[in-house]
Amino acid sequence: MAADGGPAHSSDGFHAAIAAAAYRSLKRAPGACRRLRAAATVGPVRVLVTGGAGFVGSHVVEALARRGDDVVVLDALLPAVHPAGEPGLPPGVRLVAGDVRDRSAVDRVLSCVDAVCHQAAMVGLGVDVQDLPDYVGCNDFGTAVLLAAMATAGVRRLVLASSMVVYGEGRYRCAVHGLVSPGPRRPVDLDGGRFEPPCPRCGRPLTPGLVPEDAAADPRNAYAASKLAQEHLAACWARSVGGTVAALRYHNVYGPRMPRDTPYAGVAALFRSAAERGEAARVFEDGGQRRDFVHVRDVAAANLAALAWTGRVAPGVVRAFNVGSGEPHTVGELAAELAAAYGGPPPVVTGQYRLGDVRHVTADSSRIRAELGWAPRVGFAEGVAAFAAAPLRGPAAAVTGRPPPSR
Ligand SMILES: NC(=O)c1ccc[n+]([C@@H]2O[C@H](COP(=O)([O-])OP(=O)(O)OC[C@H]3O[C@@H](n4cnc5c(N)ncnc54)[C@H](O)[C@@H]3O)[C@@H](O)[C@H]2O)c1
Ligand SMILES: [Zn+2]
Repeated sequence: MAADGGPAHSSDGFHAAIAAAAYRSLKRAPGACRRLRAAATVGPVRVLVTGGAGFVGSHVVEALARRGDDVVVLDALLPAVHPAGEPGLPPGVRLVAGDVRDRSAVDRVLSCVDAVCHQAAMVGLGVDVQDLPDYVGCNDFGTAVLLAAMATAGVRRLVLASSMVVYGEGRYRCAVHGLVSPGPRRPVDLDGGRFEPPCPRCGRPLTPGLVPEDAAADPRNAYAASKLAQEHLAACWARSVGGTVAALRYHNVYGPRMPRDTPYAGVAALFRSAAERGEAARVFEDGGQRRDFVHVRDVAAANLAALAWTGRVAPGVVRAFNVGSGEPHTVGELAAELAAAYGGPPPVVTGQYRLGDVRHVTADSSRIRAELGWAPRVGFAEGVAAFAAAPLRGPAAAVTGRPPPSR
């Protein structure tokens, strides 16, 4: 495998370098974009990364810039995500502050782009139902505007940041009924501390398993529904224009530059922020929820591999790929590991819950390994230990309990 996580093709690298050089010397001659795009099928040379100022996007941008691609970022710099203002990006990367819902802004950044890596989205579970219009606006209307603009600009390659949340509860096995899909958990059960979903047919306890890409989608909250809609919109676009789409269903991403705790942040950021304040992490339910925590640098590498893939496959091909470490852990384990690495107090299990949460969801990521040649490189223990010392994004914690461990 190549250092960027993509399959190693030395001759591809050679041709990509020639195409990249041709692009850089291009004076935006009319029609030339399309001709060069056709030549640049072995690897993107000019990539638009939407949401490239965000947590995952910034790592994708860094990885693309490191290998010499031309990168343009379109990011609305949402105040909730960027309270400290404009983030730094690698030299040479153009940051355009603009919204994917704004057609004229999107048209401008699509000029001479080979492929789009669409990370921009409003993330997390949100606060309440009042967030619905923003989720649908940023994630679905925004994707629709982007796709329409790509159709006009003749850009045919898309990597979409999707999510494992499209699956809802993961995959479970009943000793009697085999594979089953439990429905949403009832508040009465959650209030009573019965967090495990029972078999929907016989009520017996279930064994959680790994979710493959062909598992039925079953989004359980507004964010999840908006992520699934993005996939459907992208598939419609691909069929209509002969586009190619890799929908990367990230599992729980963690690593440097995760946002500090907000209602939209992931659990790893919440625990890490608590550690920074010198507080015990508050673990919901009984801490036994299983997740797949995948390091952000591995997710960036998956994006690069997927971008290359979109240039290799036939027009109209749309494929989803789980992006997980393949190493499931419980949320309680993450909290304990992080507290230990930070040298903070042990986590507290609260029994609280959020209605939109699922109990277990862990990925079967064998497809991306087999078809894109990607493999995660950062193990859980190593990644979490480094994360304990990694910088988070956003203003520093108001009450600084203790400094991060020096590493
Ligand atoms: N972090 C995870 O664990 C995780 C898991 C699964 C999927 N994802 C997906 O990965 C992508 C990136 O997530 P992240 O964790 O980096 O989130 P993030 O909030 O750190 O980054 C998202 C970026 O998109 C920008 N943005 C939001 N709405 C926009 C709009 N309308 N126009 C332009 N820019 C806009 C924000 O300003 C931000 O910089 C998202 O699509 C998300 O759904 C993330
Ligand atoms: Zn059963």
